Amino acid sequence: MKNCRIPMILVVAGRDFYKILNVPKSATLNQIKKAYRKLAKELHPDKNKDDPQAQERFQDLGAAYEALSDTEKRKVYDKSGEEGLKRHGGEDGGFHDPFSSFFGDFFHFGGGGGGGGESNVPRGGDVNLEIFVTLEEVYSGNFIEVVRAKPVAKTTSGSRRCNCRMEMRTTQLGPGRFQMMQEQVCDDCPNIKFVTEEKVLEIEIEPGIPDGFQYPFVAEGEPHIDGEPGDLKFIIRIQKHRKFERKNNDLYTNLTITLQHALNGFDIEFPHLDGHKVKLTREKITWPGAKIKKKGEGLPAHESNTIVGDLYITIDVDFPKGEFNSDQREAVKTLLNQQSKHNLYNGL
Ligand SMILES: *[C@@H]1O[C@H](CO)[C@@H](O)[C@H](O)[C@H]1NC(C)=O
Repeated sequence: MKNCRIPMILVVAGRDFYKILNVPKSATLNQIKKAYRKLAKELHPDKNKDDPQAQERFQDLGAAYEALSDTEKRKVYDKSGEEGLKRHGGEDGGFHDPFSSFFGDFFHFGGGGGGGGESNVPRGGDVNLEIFVTLEEVYSGNFIEVVRAKPVAKTTSGSRRCNCRMEMRTTQLGPGRFQMMQEQVCDDCPNIKFVTEEKVLEIEIEPGIPDGFQYPFVAEGEPHIDGEPGDLKFIIRIQKHRKFERKNNDLYTNLTITLQHALNGFDIEFPHLDGHKVKLTREKITWPGAKIKKKGEGLPAHESNTIVGDLYITIDVDFPKGEFNSDQREAVKTLLNQQSKHNLYNGL
């Protein structure tokens, strides 16, 4: 009698979603979204038509994003991998394109051209919404969730008049006498009622995003009972900041230093928009209105994250109050050794 032991081989089936997204296991939701967005741009099949594996890689990416962007699913995945997700999530494991609610019309490059023929279809209203963001968000980037209460058409009992149009009707009133009149004719359609459904639309505030930037979401606008819904458009508006002003990719700020610092030089630091410290060192005399440029401390350019603007600091000098005694005055006079020079002038 032989005791035959079959070695157990643990097959860890499934893909490494963290590897696919190229993020560490500790990645935050924001990091996951950022990584996904970046890769989705690179790997989108529309952009990789010659690569036979593009579709598959893009689907891997979608699956990875779907699992890791959902806290519940991510927990299951961390514990028992993709197999666990399949057991957990039932048959809903199919890949559905999350773009529709994520990037708006981000990928619809060039598509949908020549819609002229269908222009007779009635459309619901377009909705334009302004979204106010802070300069901090523009500096570091952020994700904003907008919950849209959307009216969705559902069929209910009964029927309704639809596709109404005017038609000419001719009635004979008597021999040789006709009357022609316009009459409204309608069809019978299944009855529809609008039910409000909540949908979360996600908008990425990319670093360096310009004021007025638009995120279109096709067909997320007002519905139309007989036709197509209108579009929804988010328009980014950047709020005024208390300390920093933006001009393109450059930032401007004002800084008050003491007279002592102005004369003796200084070594100071102040917090930037994301909290990191900007160091400012100077040995020479600094006059009020002097502009100091800190290279690379501006905003990242929206089109390219390798271009970064500069920060311009305009100096104001805080003079001490009070009065010197005669000895101190003499000392200052010798020290500064300025020839007296007064000029009346008009304008700057
Ligand atoms: C800096 O000061 C100037 C002059 O007072 C002002 O016009 C400008 O708006 C200030 N900039 C910021 C960022 O506060």
